Amino acid sequence: MNILIAGCGYVGTALAMRLAADGHGVWGLRRRPEGLPDTVRPLEADLSDPATLRDLPPGLDVVYYTAGAADGSETAYRTAYVDGPRHLLEALEQQNQRPRRVMFTSSTGVYAQCRGEWVNEDSPAEPSHAGGRHLLAGERLFLDGAFPATVLRLAGIYGPGRTRLIDSLRQGNATYQDSPPVYLNLIHRDDCVGALRHLAALARPASLYVGVDYRPVERGTLLRWLSGVLDTPPPRLVAASTNRRRNKRCRNARLAASGYSFRYPTFQHGYSAIIDALTKEKKPHV
Ligand SMILES: NC(=O)c1ccc[n+]([C@@H]2O[C@H](COP(=O)([O-])OP(=O)(O)OC[C@H]3O[C@@H](n4cnc5c(N)ncnc54)[C@H](OP(=O)(O)O)[C@@H]3O)[C@@H](O)[C@H]2O)c1
Repeated sequence: MNILIAGCGYVGTALAMRLAADGHGVWGLRRRPEGLPDTVRPLEADLSDPATLRDLPPGLDVVYYTAGAADGSETAYRTAYVDGPRHLLEALEQQNQRPRRVMFTSSTGVYAQCRGEWVNEDSPAEPSHAGGRHLLAGERLFLDGAFPATVLRLAGIYGPGRTRLIDSLRQGNATYQDSPPVYLNLIHRDDCVGALRHLAALARPASLYVGVDYRPVERGTLLRWLSGVLDTPPPRLVAASTNRRRNKRCRNARLAASGYSFRYPTFQHGYSAIIDALTKEKKPHV
């Protein structure tokens, strides 16, 4: 198959490598494609500039949109999740492409629930911030567009090189609050890759999935567990903030029922693998 990954970054590059290893022709599109692995064909283009999208590789079978916002500003969100999708979908149509599936990575940030409620694909997604509304608009562009589309709402991505919580513990500045408890919803990078690959291979995937592991966890619980494993000073309990914008627990039941088997079903599995790898890196070579 011919596969385009538009916004070939942290998740996109790992996905591209996996799909190339499966034997597919894979193009990785980004503004600075230098440094993409050899097995991925680099495509220098800017999703915010339609002129740069005029020569997409022909005969694309599957297209993934995995571009992310450059920062937290409303403009960055609009560029990444509304303008970019619109330009790419228009370019595919203008070039008479007929991908059998287009996939969009959205975010569980579209849920405004803030009292620790459980949410799934059927829960109201009524974001209270502009960024969330842009994500929802991007979802709609894909789902209402000309090609069969699937949206995967990803939770917080962690994995090799994305070790913010480990770093904060080692630096002694990790904090949490416990009344009310704040939940983290996580997914390991390799399960983002696995789920995106799995869903695109299904004959009739649903239009929407939540991409999260099996175990939303209180931030304090995760930090104390990590601190025990890493033997760092414990995290500090701080006063609860009174205006939490979002605090929910995400369910992966639809993704699991689709047949996807998680490589890292919980944070313990994922972080144990990361810590093992970090420990091996540190051991002196003999
Ligand atoms: N990180 C998380 O915790 C999280 C949580 C929920 C959902 N998500 C979603 O999951 C997806 C993958 O996340 P990620 O962490 O892998 O993202 P990432 O590492 O930030 O990668 C995004 C890639 O998009 C490219 N890009 C950005 N703007 C572009 C543009 N205008 N034209 C072309 N390429 C552009 C960037 O490369 P250049 O700068 O070279 O262009 C970058 O390589 C994103 O859609 C993100 O919104 C992420």
